[in-house]
Amino acid sequence: MTHAQTLEQKIRSRTARAGVVGLGYVGLPLAVELAESGFTTVGIDLDPRKTSAIEAGGSYIPDVPASHVARLRAAGRLSATTDFSVIGGLDTVNICVPTPLRKTKDPDMSYVVSAVEQIALYVHPQMLVVLESTTYPGTTEELVRPMLEASGLKVGVDFFVAFSPERVDPGNPTFRTRNVPKVVGGCTPACTRVAAALYEAAVDTVVQVSSTRVAEMVKLLENTFRAVNIGLVNELALMCDTLGIDVWEVIDAAKTKPFGFMPFYPGPGLGGHCIPIDPFYLSWKARQSGFEARFIELAGHVNAHMPHVVVARVLDALNTQSKAVNGARILIAGITYKREIDDVRESPALDVMHLLQQKGALVEYSDPYVAALPASSWPGERALRSVEMTAEALRGYDCVVVVTDHRAFDYCQMVTSARLIVDSRNAIGVRAPHVFRLGAPCNATPAVEVVA
Ligand SMILES: NC(=O)c1ccc[n+]([C@@H]2O[C@H](COP(=O)([O-])OP(=O)(O)OC[C@H]3O[C@@H](n4cnc5c(N)ncnc54)[C@H](O)[C@@H]3O)[C@@H](O)[C@H]2O)c1
Repeated sequence: MTHAQTLEQKIRSRTARAGVVGLGYVGLPLAVELAESGFTTVGIDLDPRKTSAIEAGGSYIPDVPASHVARLRAAGRLSATTDFSVIGGLDTVNICVPTPLRKTKDPDMSYVVSAVEQIALYVHPQMLVVLESTTYPGTTEELVRPMLEASGLKVGVDFFVAFSPERVDPGNPTFRTRNVPKVVGGCTPACTRVAAALYEAAVDTVVQVSSTRVAEMVKLLENTFRAVNIGLVNELALMCDTLGIDVWEVIDAAKTKPFGFMPFYPGPGLGGHCIPIDPFYLSWKARQSGFEARFIELAGHVNAHMPHVVVARVLDALNTQSKAVNGARILIAGITYKREIDDVRESPALDVMHLLQQKGALVEYSDPYVAALPASSWPGERALRSVEMTAEALRGYDCVVVVTDHRAFDYCQMVTSARLIVDSRNAIGVRAPHVFRLGAPCNATPAVEVVA
């Protein structure tokens, strides 16, 4: 039997030992899914707080219930360590480390490089290595493969390398690791087959593509598609502001078209670890070949401006009550980058808060998912704690700014108690003179109900 056939057999019989490097929003759900599928799985992370939490049967990712981790720990199917030498005993390793941008908007590959350097120390025959971190097309072939082949082993013959983009959507109760189709492209056809065998064990649908480059590009197409369409709808919102048209009503009507249209919604800007970042991996790579990715740059420009637009709305709103932003007490409702999650990375709320603070506003926030915001987590550099959004608390602010439309907020209470509201997400279901919505004239025809 070839090494590929032996490894495939180990995977199908679940005797393969699986490993996941990087146990964050992507890696921990994957490790749990592999363990659930019958593989003895070990998670490896540099952060001992994460590995200790898992070892203790706990979870720090809201989408992964601690009870699952505890059950898998008790069954001896899941463990976690900071010690990379365990890789020597693993048959498969999935890499799920961060791929952020540098300040210059160039890819920061340092996490991938350091993870692969560690794996290269222990790479051995009949081993599969899959990169899952979002990255530019060519990473697996040009960066990962040579680092691993420096061992003297040959990819596609002795060991196997593939790319499979992670498409997890944190906070999505419908689509989880198991029921989101997995796209897989290997360095060779044997690499694709072995990697597909691993995912077939753990997820419902596997889509094989012809190369690692195609698989890398798939993820960037998906996220660029979102970034560009959000940029377009944000620009339309600004246009509608100028034209006195309610962009939300326009989108609601447009989406009744049963084909050829997909609704995207305006908002305070992009956030999270994917949509604001990934398209720049693509434009950076395209630039290396002299290609200018104009849609990506333009969408990035429009989206990055949105926190300024929200702040301008706050100034307009305060102006209607003859108030200055300097000295105004402002409550930010929601600081995570999207609803129902606890992640504030790249959140536009942090920019909105910082811009308001720079103008002299006294900024506080309320977010049921983020109890405290350390000074180091946002450019305003003040440690804050979430304020409980009672009617009395709401009455104490000059303006409430809805940045994240968590369902847990009591929007009726907000409308009846707050003096002014700037709603950047169309979260407030009622129209009222003191509610200012992004992309809608404040005197828009009442669509639902008028609160006097
Ligand atoms: N979060 C998402 O919604 C999402 C969705 C799809 C794809 N992705 C992509 O998946 C990748 C991981 O994202 P994430 O959100 O899980 O990141 P994360 O920051 O939540 O987790 C990354 C983990 O990797 C660990 N780590 C860093 N360097 C390491 C190393 N050298 N060795 C071992 N562990 C290391 C960190 O300690 C951390 O626990 C990124 O490329 C991201 O773009 C993320």
